[in-house]
Amino acid sequence: MSKTLLIKKKIVSFNKQIQVSGDKSLSIRWVLLASQAIGKSKGYNLLMSEDVVAALETIKKLGIKVLVRKDHCEIFGNGINGFKYKNGLVIDAKNSGTLGRLILGLLIKSPKKIKIIGDKSLSKRDFSRVTLPLEKFGAKFYYKTKNKLPLSILGSKSSKGINFIENKGSAQCKSSVMLAALNSSGTTCIKAKKSRDHSELLFKYLKIPIKIKKTKKYDFIKIKKPKQINAFNYQIPGDVSSSAFFMVLTILTDNSKLLIKNVNINPSRIGVITILKKMGAKISLKNKRNYRGEKISDILIQSSKNLKSINCPSELNSSAIDEFLIIFLAAAKAKGISYFKDISELNQKESPRLNWGSKILNMMGVKTELTKSSIKIYGQPNLEITKPIIIKNYLKDHRIFMMSTIAALTCGGEWKIHDKDSINTSFPSFLKIVKNINNKSL
Ligand code: S3P
Repeated sequence: MSKTLLIKKKIVSFNKQIQVSGDKSLSIRWVLLASQAIGKSKGYNLLMSEDVVAALETIKKLGIKVLVRKDHCEIFGNGINGFKYKNGLVIDAKNSGTLGRLILGLLIKSPKKIKIIGDKSLSKRDFSRVTLPLEKFGAKFYYKTKNKLPLSILGSKSSKGINFIENKGSAQCKSSVMLAALNSSGTTCIKAKKSRDHSELLFKYLKIPIKIKKTKKYDFIKIKKPKQINAFNYQIPGDVSSSAFFMVLTILTDNSKLLIKNVNINPSRIGVITILKKMGAKISLKNKRNYRGEKISDILIQSSKNLKSINCPSELNSSAIDEFLIIFLAAAKAKGISYFKDISELNQKESPRLNWGSKILNMMGVKTELTKSSIKIYGQPNLEITKPIIIKNYLKDHRIFMMSTIAALTCGGEWKIHDKDSINTSFPSFLKIVKNINNKSL
């Protein structure tokens, strides 16, 4: 199969219903928490992407039995601190920052050194943001290159709860410390800048002693070691981050309508919907319901002519952090100049997404003004691309690939988009769904 996607034609109007695959954050959290439970947990609609498979492979290496059945996955947990493994263990987190960072929390008491490695993209990312707080629990870290993978962890027998201020708005840092707290004596107190709260909701559901006080900017979290975690079954809802690509596809295509079924609409994740609606997009949430503390709904999207620019409030940044690339595309087709600020974290992702997003828009003929932490996008509602565009996705960033695909389908031009396989990180069925909406092959 060619690894390059060629698109020469815009998509034509459609009226469809789709389902996207399971949420990545929740899938990885379910795998890791089920590994700490006692007995058999079943996960339904688990996202079987490379990041989640890497999480399953990781717990298997740590002595946990995993069975992947036809319609669900079974994990046979050995309880908290129940990992068993040989000397010289190497864990490959592949492309996954969430796995690489969260697993360190669960290894806080590891009696033998464990090495964590990752792919080229993950090996460029900062790990000190988790190893610094985890050191306070008593664990030791050994880096070859400062703050970068590969690293080794050696846990501490007498891991004790810590006080931690999380100031980046990183759910990965917060969750890594929360997982370390599961296995540490005393109380762990976290003051965390707002970020996705799936870990907190799962802890509550699992009756892990957790107290949360929310203020406008920070959440104050206190966790005590639970006696045990009981096995639990979980139906993973659809991923709003994957849905976002189809929201913008629909908004930017004339006379079209799309219903996306069963999507997780956790308020800490739906900044993309708030931002697109502020820009004038027609999006509504149908059939809202609750599931174990999470919110789920169907999302109805309609073509939205006359999108307007946005001066995006920074309070929305953390709840849209994975969706900015596709939001930039909407801004490129909106009337006026859009402004997104305080988003330097975007350059800490699988690739420097703030820089890359700007570069792709420039290739499309859209003017941008870029700084280290902000971007201005000069929208062109009538943008029609006429020249060929080649996207070389050096770090194989899945979201760069998907954003480029949606740009090609909505803005025209001849596109060659490299590294098709990158979608396997988070959304292996992305192109199949595009093909279904487009009624033809790609
Ligand atoms: C994630 C947290 C976010 C997000 C990532 C998934 C998680 O990263 O970008 O895709 O599941 O906790 P940060 O914690 O680095 O913001």
